[in-house]
Amino acid sequence: MSMIKDNYERVIDYMRISITDRCNLRCVYCMPSGGVKPLDPENILSYEEIIRIVRISAKLGVKKIRLTGGEPLIRKDLSYLISSINNISGIEDISLTTNGLLLKEYARSLAAAGLRRINVSLDSLHADRYKEITKGGNINDVWDGIYEAEKAGLIPVKINMVPIRGINDDEIEAFARLTINTPYHVRFIEFMPIGARDMWSREKYISTDEIKEKVSAIAPLTSVKARKSGPARYFRFEGAAGVIGFISPVTHHFCDTCNRLRLTADGKLRPCLFSETEIDLKPALRSGATDEEVERLLRLSIDVKPEGHNINHEKSFSHLRPMSKIGG
Ligand code: GTP
Ligand code: 5AD
Ligand code: SF4
Repeated sequence: MSMIKDNYERVIDYMRISITDRCNLRCVYCMPSGGVKPLDPENILSYEEIIRIVRISAKLGVKKIRLTGGEPLIRKDLSYLISSINNISGIEDISLTTNGLLLKEYARSLAAAGLRRINVSLDSLHADRYKEITKGGNINDVWDGIYEAEKAGLIPVKINMVPIRGINDDEIEAFARLTINTPYHVRFIEFMPIGARDMWSREKYISTDEIKEKVSAIAPLTSVKARKSGPARYFRFEGAAGVIGFISPVTHHFCDTCNRLRLTADGKLRPCLFSETEIDLKPALRSGATDEEVERLLRLSIDVKPEGHNINHEKSFSHLRPMSKIGG
């Protein structure tokens, strides 16, 4: 099997693919309050175009695919995309990041198509507050979706929670306690200065150190070795069914082990979540480029992958695309 490294000796074997920039929610911390102009449908890559990119990437050494959005479950015939990716030789793992609202309906068919696991964004355990944060979401749909996903074998279910001061930081302990009796991987993500620029501030942002302090006041945490590389560091309460993860993009860089590339819904390769550089694959794909030419662009994006980022020190982030247009 082939393997590709970037200029900093990092093995690139993971691609996050945003399949739509649209979302059925409007989370306050993700979308700018003025809304985001949606992409023109004709600029969205077709499934055939995505499948082709994955096939060529797999030849280079990409083994893991994560589908993201916006909300990936609102795109039609997702099972078709998943089974096609699943049939590509070299692809070992396909996962999905979702808000969970439509999971109840789709979990079974997605699992049958070859989806392995899901990560669900959930930022409150209270129905009223969930509705407020997401601008209208029904939390019961999310839980129904999570249960259905578990039944379909999409495990472990990872729950992503972004604590924001004054909004949901009083629920950090409750989320951590969820892991005592349930097998979920509850992950706390530092609020990044990206997306809702009118929402982020130093005051609202909560560091992993602070979150961890609250969590370990419940009971001592033991560190758990993660089987796979990824941005989260994992811990558990003794005897707990689930684990607790911390994703610290702002305070602790995990860039030195970064294994990923990102593909936006409109066909741009982003070497890094925070990079301003994007390599547009669409013109090549739509003007009859050969596989070799597409491969050259893929290699180029790996070549320009930065060593890391410095969002903690950046004054402004207004140049970045909102999360819904990158896929997290
Ligand atoms: P697995 O570990 O494979 O389950 O995936 P993941 O944790 O990478 O996926 P998920 O989509 O759940 O990402 C969780 C959060 O981590 C999101 O908010 C991402 O923005 C953040 N994140 C994921 N990858 C990166 C990365 O490469 N850089 C930065 N800065 N943040 C990332
Ligand atoms: N900071 C941290 N996480 C964010 N997400 C979206 N916007 C932000 C932000 N500004 C998270 C979502 C989802 C993941 C893909 O990205 O909660 O779980
Ligand atoms: Fe990778 Fe960029 Fe995220 Fe660092 S910030 S982990 S280099 S994607």
